[in-house]
Amino acid sequence: MINPVLLIVLVLSFSFSFDARAQKFENLALTPPMGWNSWNYFKCDFNEQLIREVADAMVSSGMKEAGYEYIIIDDCWQVGRDKEGYIIPDPEKFPSGIKALADYIHAKGLKFGLYSDAGTKTCKGLPGSRGYEYQDARTYASWGVDFLKYDWCHHGTQDAQASYTLMRDALYAAGRPVLFSICEWGENEPWLWAPEVGHMWRTGHDIKDCFNCDLNTSSQGIMKILDQQVELRKYAGPDRWNDPDMLEVGNPGLSLAESRAHFSLWCMLAAPLIAGNDIIHMSDEVKSILTHKEVIAVNQDPLGLQAIKWLDFGDLEVWFKPLTSEEYAVCFLNRDENPKILDFDFNQWEKVFDPDKGWKKYAFDDTYQMHDLWKNEKIGTTRESLKSTIPGHDVLMIKMTKIP
Ligand code: GLA
Repeated sequence: MINPVLLIVLVLSFSFSFDARAQKFENLALTPPMGWNSWNYFKCDFNEQLIREVADAMVSSGMKEAGYEYIIIDDCWQVGRDKEGYIIPDPEKFPSGIKALADYIHAKGLKFGLYSDAGTKTCKGLPGSRGYEYQDARTYASWGVDFLKYDWCHHGTQDAQASYTLMRDALYAAGRPVLFSICEWGENEPWLWAPEVGHMWRTGHDIKDCFNCDLNTSSQGIMKILDQQVELRKYAGPDRWNDPDMLEVGNPGLSLAESRAHFSLWCMLAAPLIAGNDIIHMSDEVKSILTHKEVIAVNQDPLGLQAIKWLDFGDLEVWFKPLTSEEYAVCFLNRDENPKILDFDFNQWEKVFDPDKGWKKYAFDDTYQMHDLWKNEKIGTTRESLKSTIPGHDVLMIKMTKIP
């Protein structure tokens, strides 16, 4: 007969070892992840040479120094499975194999990301990971993958939470820390369960390089995506980010002002900053948006708070993001195509309430120095009204620092 004490010890140790496996890799994304992904600009048109050049450009453009870390290959790198079920990378695109490319990227001090799908096929109809989760996770670990974007096409009747949890556990069992990026387009309210499963989750359908347009449901413009984030802010924080989708900064459908506004807002939202343009051939203006240190610092602030949509005057909105050291970032957004004259008196508004933190109050009882982040200049204090003209589809983004 089995000793009851031994039985308890056995049951406990089983449940502990089980718990130890059933988790995501913690602390891989204490601030919003930063990197580059092939999809938004190149779609399926890439190969190992291009990805190497992207890695080179990441360093030479100053993006790496500005904080960008991951080079992520999206859909279209895989072509089939071999007899044993191992995933086969496209031999024409990657004649040297994925491992050699990952090594190249790592040698530059960068990290490497790949894409797969929780269903039977990716969105481009290539093999998904359904039924091969543990095998794929081991393959990724052997190649040196640091980031996995996991899509949701061809999922049939699969349950989203279970499917993503399965891959989370497979990655964990494979033993190499992987930042897990959940991409089920916000269809199953991932903000309610994904914080335990991954480090970031898409909140909606695909972004398009279009500022203020209403597209079909499978892709949407920047303003529409922005509107979807307002109610989701309470779910985000260090290691668990809402992902309003990758950046379109520098892509052909956006003017420079629109790219600047888009970037500013994603920084205010504490969104992952995954560039999606051709960084090999980008203009100096686009580069200076993507590498703006003070604006990126707002995104990377360790408090990890997503901005509050504070005031809404129709086409003029005011977004507010508390930062560490009692500093605040404020972004005035002009959604209209015509310029807007701003005459804003902080004393008139006095405070911002944060409904998601028990109606915490941020008050402007003290005087604050205002700093225009894009122009990099001081623009007075909150003792006087803030007067400015904001061009169409552009922003005025300021940081407020208390004057002792
Ligand atoms: C989906 C995703 C996109 C991209 C494509 C690739 O649409 O949401 O971000 O990964 O698939 O096919």
